[in-house]
Amino acid sequence: MTDQPTYGGGPVAYGIDTRTPTVARVYDYFLGGKDNYEADRELYRQIVEVAPEAPEWARANRRWLKQVVTWLAEDAGVRRFIDAGSGLPTAENTHQIAQGVNVESVVVYVDNDPSVVAHGRALLLDNNRTHFVAADLTKPAEVLAEPPIADLLAAGEPVALVMALMLHHLADHDETLAIARQYVDALPPGSFLAITHACKPGDGGAVDVLVSELQEKVKDAFPTLAFRSVEQISALFGGMEILDPGVVRLVDWHVPDGRVDEEPEPDVRDVIYGGLARKR
Ligand SMILES: C[S@@+](CC[C@H](N)C(=O)[O-])C[C@H]1O[C@@H](n2cnc3c(N)ncnc32)[C@H](O)[C@@H]1O
Repeated sequence: MTDQPTYGGGPVAYGIDTRTPTVARVYDYFLGGKDNYEADRELYRQIVEVAPEAPEWARANRRWLKQVVTWLAEDAGVRRFIDAGSGLPTAENTHQIAQGVNVESVVVYVDNDPSVVAHGRALLLDNNRTHFVAADLTKPAEVLAEPPIADLLAAGEPVALVMALMLHHLADHDETLAIARQYVDALPPGSFLAITHACKPGDGGAVDVLVSELQEKVKDAFPTLAFRSVEQISALFGGMEILDPGVVRLVDWHVPDGRVDEEPEPDVRDVIYGGLARKR
């Protein structure tokens, strides 16, 4: 993988609407970033009114990303990564983590938020093993045909597809299953799929109540946001082998053969669940 192609042109800079909150920018504010506007910060304030722990969910999600990408690069020997729904660049991004383990790792980011697309150009400058594709992930055939992704898959080597806090932005469950399935089908044998997703456990407990309040707060800004059950999230892996510890709250997640040092924390209100699966 020493001779890496460069994919000319780069992403198109779309107009950025600063008056309407976007998922990428609200999330950026959750992480303490600066790529956000007053509309994003106002929605943030409404969310933390009902869920003061929400910023910690975002931080936990980034810790999970670091854990999972490090494990994939170090222990599973994966050298090709697709970060689908990558969000705005923050402290430790997938290419920095993967290339920190092996400098030859190739990472392709995909996102369709105009602010993220604008930053995609800068990512291209980092090195010729990091690429950005501006595309709508609900159109798998188009995404899979994008040269950086098509080339990555054509090598036939294992690929790690990361879909962190992205699939829950697709409302219809059957459509989301079909979309995820097309990505799973395109992965070479030995590949991995890593997902984090907002969850409504469905047991009528405190987290279900919290989720209902959250849904009410964000329904106008993010009408397609879908909190799925553990079973529904598990189904998004399309029959791949879900590795230990399964699809669980991020507070309970650990790398597949990882030692668990801490006792589970039963009282933590955590609506973000994660899982990692391998394709045979
Ligand atoms: C909450 S952010 C998560 C960012 C990052 N994956 C993480 O977990 O830290 C969700 C990202 O998914 C992107 N996204 C949502 N729907 C998308 C779609 N249909 N196509 C491409 N990107 C999408 C948003 O623009 C946003 O940047």
